[in-house]
Amino acid sequence: MFDDLRPLINSITDSNNTTESKLQKICELLKSEIPHYDWVGFYFKNGDKKELKLGPYAGEPTDHTIIPFGKGICGQVAESNKNFVVPDVQAQDNYIACSITVKAEIVVPLFVNEENIGQIDIDSNTPNPFTKADETFLEFVNFEVAKIL
Ligand code: SME
Repeated sequence: MFDDLRPLINSITDSNNTTESKLQKICELLKSEIPHYDWVGFYFKNGDKKELKLGPYAGEPTDHTIIPFGKGICGQVAESNKNFVVPDVQAQDNYIACSITVKAEIVVPLFVNEENIGQIDIDSNTPNPFTKADETFLEFVNFEVAKIL
């Protein structure tokens, strides 16, 4: 599944669209093609502020359009610069709930010139759905996205 999606990601990043619309298409592709991805979005560092701002996403609208560094899974990744895989969101005390249907989450930081400038965030309604293959694939997605930012 992931191997089939890689060339589709590249065709989006290489396409003649705005960056915003490319990111939107990537979110929609991942949400529609990967059964355990129920919400897919990008967050980016908000200027000089120690907070993340929601960018393009696919899935239900969320109230959490601004997330301070350190808060929730996303805010922790903004500071740790590391992938964060959460097999069971209920087991996390520093977690921001977006929807009661969400069971698991994965957040992978996005680096431009080695600087953590944002992240891709996936929510899943399936318990414990993520493997190393998700991490590797999402690192690839962010690597390709970094080239067009
Ligand atoms: N659950 C995230 C907040 C963002 S929503 O999943 C869209 C967190 O704990 O940071």
